[in-house]
Amino acid sequence: MGWVRLIEWDRCPPDRGVYLECFGRELAVFRLDNPPRASVLDNACPHSGGNLAGGKVDGAVVRCPWHDWAFDLDTGQCIHSEKAAAVRYPSEVRSGSVWADIPALPGDHLALDAQRPNQPGV
Ligand code: FES
Repeated sequence: MGWVRLIEWDRCPPDRGVYLECFGRELAVFRLDNPPRASVLDNACPHSGGNLAGGKVDGAVVRCPWHDWAFDLDTGQCIHSEKAAAVRYPSEVRSGSVWADIPALPGDHLALDAQRPNQPGV
């Protein structure tokens, strides 16, 4: 994939995440302030798949609503265990929107090929 515009900055609340889907991935987008920045994680908590977008945000930390594991939104690192981390994508706020560098899922090229119209003479 590459850099993708995910959501307008103004639609990101400061105290909770926003769930969205992008090219088959389920993402949690967080708005962070001081300085303004975004954090884009896989929505599934690495512990057992909890909904990170629905977690409680406190500063630059989100707490999973299922078992309360906490993740640093700037790194994705779990605060309780150095062995666990949420999948975090490079992100930035540009032109009033949150952008993220989302890698292709295995098999994405097949889906894109299937959507391509037939070329005359091919
Ligand atoms: S599923 Fe997130 S802490 Fe257990």
